[in-house]
This record gives sequence, structure tokens and C-alpha cells, in this order.
Amino acid sequence: MQATFLGLDIGTSSIKALLIDEQQRLVAEASVPLSISRPEPLWSEQDPEEWWQACLTAIEQVRNDAPQAFSALQAIGLSGQQHGAVFLDVDGHVLRPAILWNDGRCGREAEELQASLQDFVERASNIAMVGFTAPKVLWVRRHEPDIFKKTRKILLPKDYIRFRLSGAYVAEMSDAGGTLWHDIACRRWDDALLAAGGIDRSYVADLVEGSDESARLSDALSTKWGLTKGPVVIAGGAGDNAAAAVGIGAVNAGEGLLSMGTSGVLFAVTDRLLTKPARALNAMCHALPERWHVMGVSLSAASALSWFADVIGKGDRVGDLIAEVQAFASHPTQRANAPIFVPYLTGERTPHNDPEANGIFAGLRAQHDQIAMAYAVMEGVAFCFADDFDVLADSGTQLNSCFLVGGGARSQFWGQMLSDVLQFPLDLPGGAETGAALGAARLGMLAARVGNEADICFKPDIKSRYSPDPKEQSFYKPRLDRFRALYAAEHQIRMRSR
Ligand code: XUL
Repeated sequence: MQATFLGLDIGTSSIKALLIDEQQRLVAEASVPLSISRPEPLWSEQDPEEWWQACLTAIEQVRNDAPQAFSALQAIGLSGQQHGAVFLDVDGHVLRPAILWNDGRCGREAEELQASLQDFVERASNIAMVGFTAPKVLWVRRHEPDIFKKTRKILLPKDYIRFRLSGAYVAEMSDAGGTLWHDIACRRWDDALLAAGGIDRSYVADLVEGSDESARLSDALSTKWGLTKGPVVIAGGAGDNAAAAVGIGAVNAGEGLLSMGTSGVLFAVTDRLLTKPARALNAMCHALPERWHVMGVSLSAASALSWFADVIGKGDRVGDLIAEVQAFASHPTQRANAPIFVPYLTGERTPHNDPEANGIFAGLRAQHDQIAMAYAVMEGVAFCFADDFDVLADSGTQLNSCFLVGGGARSQFWGQMLSDVLQFPLDLPGGAETGAALGAARLGMLAARVGNEADICFKPDIKSRYSPDPKEQSFYKPRLDRFRALYAAEHQIRMRSR
């Protein structure tokens, strides 16, 4: 009986469980949806107990689909939404709902945190962004002092699931950088950053590398699930983006990933810590030893097109809408005169770190219709990636190859547009997209030492490549300049009216 490996991804919209065998053939997978609670404007919370119950349901489904294979489980890898804060008391009980990465309540705390240490940004390698963990903890200290007083441990989402699986408090390097308590260059907690965040080492979990063993599955769960291969290893795992990179084989310097999902992520592996905090670049450790990553994060990507499709009543026909946009764009004069759209519908992280940034339509004329506007939306999203690309280059990151993944990557028209805007080739992977959960399962295999990194973290076949058309550069350049100028002007107006 072949050993099997489970990847568990604690996403924001769902929990995914994926079981693979030693050849990484998919044995079974399951997904359980999650809800987000927004009790106040800007708030975004989830109940960690709901994550855990959803994990149990997803695992149960996988187990039912492949009972024999599941009984040979050898290792588990965890991946998860980054930055979220789970507050635990002395007995490991959850004290309040987890505050998530897309919660925007702690602007004041983020500003105060960054100002509280002269060398804060150098130490954290990142600016104090609202989405990160430390400002959330300062918010709880200020607004919910009773909860803060009872808090003994603060865990990231996937590390809470590890605790439920094993009873151990362990964190790992790739996710730790997103807390603002981590010395990313030296891969250890930074006492000065912890103190600036109002806590000390006793509040945080022990750190391991993502590909190392972090804990073992509890005897109670091993027995309950009828596991036969002996103790099940739990790998350190990774934040979801680093896990997705491992899943697609982006493990060495220069290898990258462009993810066109709800949000947009441009991720690249580096062999030393590179930073560009002034332009809101995320810089963190990779989930593999002696490597780091940089990441540009755009908060509205495929979601901007879904939003616009909803507005014009075509929410259930986005594919048709893209086909109409493609026909529109095939007329050079129409395309050249299309409006410009800035898709900052929920603010923007890279390069502005501006939670209050807005969406903008500009250049509208009487001849424009929904399709011209939808073209502008798709182009505006591509321009966000152009900014991310520019910031990566600005940090000294060398990108040699880049896979294109996520829902938006299914559109051939959008994929080609991205490649033309970036003037960079983008590779579409063949086969099923299993993303972060596959990366997590691979980290499980590495922790269980069933093979070496080169054998386990291979790249998928390339289904097709979008090659940039050099002629398109002169078309997009002036439009990209207008896009950038529009945000700058809107920002200035907003600041003046404060
Ligand atoms: C990364 C980030 C998101 C979350 C949710 O910095 O905030 O990608 O990890 O997926």
C-alpha cells in the first residue's frame, strides 16, 4: 500500500483538502465553503471553530472517497490565508473571532506601530500594513482590553489548525513575515518588533521551516481516522501564496507566479531578502530553507470584472462579456479610444498601501457602452499587475519565468493582454489547478522525507505560453501613464478634502 499525503488549505472562502500518493497522483479532494462575518464597516472576521469543523468535514469526505488510501496517510501539510490573528487563552480556547487579512479596522494602530520604533521598517522588511497581524493585536489591546488580558497565544490561521490537529503551538517562516514580528533576514522572531506590538515571545509559536516536521498528529485523531502507517508527520507548511508557489514548482530564485484570483498576486522567489517597503512590496521567507520571496498584492483582480458584470446585469455571463470585449478590442480605433479604469474597489496594497483608494472610470464619451467599459476594467486589472511588476523590478528581483494561475487565467484574451502589458511571457500550466493545497501536500512529503526537493517540487507541463507582442508596448504605455496619473490625482483630491 502506497503512502499518501494530505494538503489542507485554510482559505478565506473555503477549506480545501487534497490527498495525493507518492507519485503525486490525485487520490481525492474536497472543499467546504466558509462564510465571512462583517459586523462593522471595514471588519472581516471568521470563527476558528468553523475552520476546524470545515477541516473535519473536508477530511471526512476525502476519507469516504478513498478509505484505504487515507488509512495510509503519512504526512499532512498546511497552507492558509495569511496575516489573520487567532487569540487563545491559557487553555488554548479561542477568545474572539479571528481578525482576517482583509479587515481594515486598524489603520490608526498600523500608523502608531510603525512610528513607535525608529527602525521599524528596516526590522520588519515591510511597512506596517493594515492587513498584517501586529496592528490587529494592538487594536484588540486598545478596544477589547479584557480579551487582551486573557490572551496567552496568538496564532495565524493554519497554525491554529495545526494546534487542533496536534496540540502543538508551531509557526513557520513564510507566514511569520506577515505578522510584523519577524526578523525575515535571520528567520527568527524579533524581540524589539514583538515589544512594539505589545507582546513578547511567550505569545508566539515556535518557528520551523515550512518543509520541516512541526508536530505529529494526535493519537486521538490517528485512532479516530484508522491510520495505519504509524505517526503522521505535520509539516511546517506555508502561507497560501508561498504554498501555491511550491505547488507549481516556483522554488528557486527567479521563478514566479502570477495569480489572477479575487485579488491579484505577483510572486517571485529570491535567494536573499530583497525589499521595497516604500512601494508596499511584501517581502517574506519562502517555505523552503535559505530562500525568500517578494510579492505584489492587488486587492481587486478578477473580482473587478465580476463586480462590473454584476453592475450591468451580466454577473452570470462573464464568459460572454469577455467574448464581446475581445470583439470590441479587435477594432483598433475603438480600443485606442476606450475609457480608462482604476480598479481600486477595496483600496490597494502594492504599490500604494492605501485602504481608502477608490475605483475610477475616466475618459468616458457618449459613444462608450458597457463593452467599452468592460474593456477598461480588464485593462485596468492588467495595469495593476504592471505596477506590481515594476515594484518587483525596483526591489532588484530578477524574474526569469512566470506561471499564470487563478480564475482569470482561464481567459485567453486576458492572458495575452497581461503578457503584452507586462512585456513578459506567461506560462499556462497544464492539468488540474490544485494550487496551495498541492503545495502544502508537497511540504508534507518533504517533512516526511520521502524524496528530495528537486523530485517533489517539479513544475507542471506548460499547456501554452503567452508571448508578449513588442508592438503592443507603444499602445499600452500612454494608457498606463494615464492610469497612474488618475490614481495620483484622486489621492491628492482625497488628501485635500480631509
Ligand atoms: C497576502 C494576502 C492574501 C491572503 C489571503 O499577503 O493578504 O493573499 O493570504 O489569501
